[in-house]
Amino acid sequence: VRSIDWTPQIAPGNAPLYERLVEALERDVASGALPPGCKLPTHRDLAHHLGISLGTVTRAYAEAERRRLVGGQQGRGTFVAQVNAAVLSEGPESALVDLSRNVPPPLLSAENVGEALARLQRRPDLLKYLDYVPHAGVEAHRATISQWLARRAVPATTDNLVITSGAQHAVSLVLDAVLKPGDGIGVEAFTYYGLKFLAREVGSRLHAIAMDAEGMLPDALEAACAKGGLSAVYVMPTLQTPTARTMSPQRRRDLAEVCRRHDLMIIEDDVYGFLAPNAPPPIAQIAPERTFYISSISKSIAPGFRIGFLVLPGSQMQRLQRRLGVTCWMASPLTSLIAAEWIQDGTADNLAGRLRAEAKRRLEAACRSLPQVERPSLDTSFHLWIPLPSGEAEAVVRRAAARHVIVTPHDAFAAEGGPDGGIRICLGSPRTFASLDRGLAGLADALRNEDTFLSIV
Ligand SMILES: Cc1ncc(COP(=O)(O)O)c(C=O)c1O
Repeated sequence: VRSIDWTPQIAPGNAPLYERLVEALERDVASGALPPGCKLPTHRDLAHHLGISLGTVTRAYAEAERRRLVGGQQGRGTFVAQVNAAVLSEGPESALVDLSRNVPPPLLSAENVGEALARLQRRPDLLKYLDYVPHAGVEAHRATISQWLARRAVPATTDNLVITSGAQHAVSLVLDAVLKPGDGIGVEAFTYYGLKFLAREVGSRLHAIAMDAEGMLPDALEAACAKGGLSAVYVMPTLQTPTARTMSPQRRRDLAEVCRRHDLMIIEDDVYGFLAPNAPPPIAQIAPERTFYISSISKSIAPGFRIGFLVLPGSQMQRLQRRLGVTCWMASPLTSLIAAEWIQDGTADNLAGRLRAEAKRRLEAACRSLPQVERPSLDTSFHLWIPLPSGEAEAVVRRAAARHVIVTPHDAFAAEGGPDGGIRICLGSPRTFASLDRGLAGLADALRNEDTFLSIV
């Protein structure tokens, strides 16, 4: 088979050359310029043709293979993948670009999962993980997870960590076991909509607390406490959703102090913390006696594993385990086994590192295309906030939809009584950079343009 005549258009930029070469390849696969099954030039020919080193091309082809853009056949060369091309192109230009779902781009490959399952098959003790295990999870997994969290200064040990079926389950357990119906929870004025829905279900009342560029304001929390009715706060100190704001160490200390003074429990949701390993230590470290620290592998590995973690004051451990036991008995030991193995063999850290690099790249692209974006203090967020007057936010969402781009308006996040105005965009959901680019272009247009007659007919 002769190789296709391919001259990649390598975009300028700061990313390493091999990455920009993979991007060019990705674009050409998505556009159909490189059809499924076609043979790519040899490493040596392409290096010669582009005047770049053989090592750069080898690295780019290896990365493209890892992303399943291409496949190699021993002695025959490198071919554009047959199956993946269809997935990658994400349909024609008219297809929707969904910037509303806060999910990581799928960097985990089918091979990663296949290898993990094959390893399971070889374990002599496999059946143990198909049986009932203690409510809090297998002790060895809890040890692995707590050591991993301790690296981010989370005060986790096997005595105060519970494995849950995802972070949402952990939040729900805390509200169930520790709060009474009707109790008030102070939340950032824009908060996680999963909490809004949950609070409605269980009858907790959310109080919107004003925010600044770091998130919840301690003075505003103090004022809300003075009015009475608050039993807890729920905060996301690192890469808050929807705003991507991050609290400084001082802010974390000040909030913990207000909570101590008014005897509030703290629910600290850190599902995006893995994107910022150098973020300040969690509030759980400052006030471990009252903090319920929650995270999961949904954003860092994949949500389908349903593995979350709850690190809690030791005094609450029994009550929480009982609640976990009566609701779902335990999180799946089989998936927690895979998670623990991936933590131990470095797969989890490797994925997190690659996700951070991808987040940075996507965030740069978004800030370039959309000057209205609020640039976060950390540059590794997959979600971003665009502050807008409330009527304008709704109009932008409508105009974006007319351009086949889906984004989420403020009312999904606004706690009752809080301000409104803004939209959240999520950069992880489009599978390819090309598709993200198309979404950003559509949104830029929606932010710029008045409604046109064409979109009204
Ligand atoms: C802030 C926050 N907390 C919790 C969750 C739920 O995560 P999980 O899939 O681990 O239940 C999400 C998911 O979007 C989230 O954004």
